[in-house]
Amino acid sequence: TRTHSLAVVAGDGIGPEVTAQALAVLDVVAPAYDLAFDRTEYDLGARRWHATGETLPDSVLTEIRGHDAILLGAIGDPGVPSGVLERGLLLRLRFELDHYVNLRPSKLYPGVPTPLADSVLAKGDIDFVVVREGTEGPYVGNGGAIRVGTPHEMATEVSINTAFGVERVVRDAFARAQARPRRRLTLVHKNNVLVHAGHLWSRTVDAVAAEFPDVTVDYLHVDAATIFLATDPARFDVIVTDNLFGDILTDLAAAVTGGIGLAASGNINPDGTAPSMFEPVHGSAPDIAGQHRADPTAAILSGALLLDHLGVPEAAARITAAVEADIAGRAGSTTARSTEEVGAAIAAAVAGGVPVA
Ligand code: IPM
Ligand code: MN
Repeated sequence: TRTHSLAVVAGDGIGPEVTAQALAVLDVVAPAYDLAFDRTEYDLGARRWHATGETLPDSVLTEIRGHDAILLGAIGDPGVPSGVLERGLLLRLRFELDHYVNLRPSKLYPGVPTPLADSVLAKGDIDFVVVREGTEGPYVGNGGAIRVGTPHEMATEVSINTAFGVERVVRDAFARAQARPRRRLTLVHKNNVLVHAGHLWSRTVDAVAAEFPDVTVDYLHVDAATIFLATDPARFDVIVTDNLFGDILTDLAAAVTGGIGLAASGNINPDGTAPSMFEPVHGSAPDIAGQHRADPTAAILSGALLLDHLGVPEAAARITAAVEADIAGRAGSTTARSTEEVGAAIAAAVAGGVPVA
């Protein structure tokens, strides 16, 4: 048996509810692949901040660093000033653990309701992945404000783009494109306006492209990319983009492929210098917290990404197949299921060994 240590940060709102289901599914799939998980739960988020004023103490970060992977639920609470937990906990984990690849796959499963028109769906299968840069851009917090509260207030948020940071994420995106059947990479930026960073990204993609002659490359301005996500998402295979564009695009991508209840993500440290972290794209949804109404599917699929990352793609595929089967059964059903019922149904499908496509 291969035992993996898992740091669990269930977090705020619906985080603990959906994370419990993801963990239950991992426990069901593990024995079939001779795996076991040694889990440590970390009490981080709004509760701890209210109790102690701490977001992520250094000692806790050091402990988390010692694990093979991290499973995170959701961070954010209306009772905590906006940005405190986001910056102090979630983004701090991404930055400190050098999660420079924020991997966000989007796939439209059969039977999933989508706002897309039939004419759009007729263009082909929707199955793409956004490689969002995770450690730079406007997220680094390089900015400030002067004359705050006056009519002359001036605020800046400076986007940081380094040759080192851009090149490593672009190279990772090319490698992912190379490994996919369609071998297509789209750079999304806004190089007609953000010329300094935009040209760095474009030049980097051009340079790295020489190493991947089998990958077809194209470029879209971010505004045009949103049009294509709504009118022809089948055209995308791998998208590489900066931290903020990637944040926005992946919410849109989730919206057209069944909603954020299904969208999973991995914050990957490809070099293995620190554990990677897996989390649903959705937030803590305080409006429905504690009501057992949250869809745990995104958290469960994040568990599949975790297994993939730990080198057990067969186990990941088994979870994905179980989710796919469960989703197919949702079509036409009118009874709303609880978080626990959805989790149990997927766990049962995993246990029953729904055939992997
Ligand atoms: C996400 C979230 C975060 C982000 C927030 C909560 C800081 O929106 O994971 O997409 O902007 O990255
Ligand atoms: Mn987001």
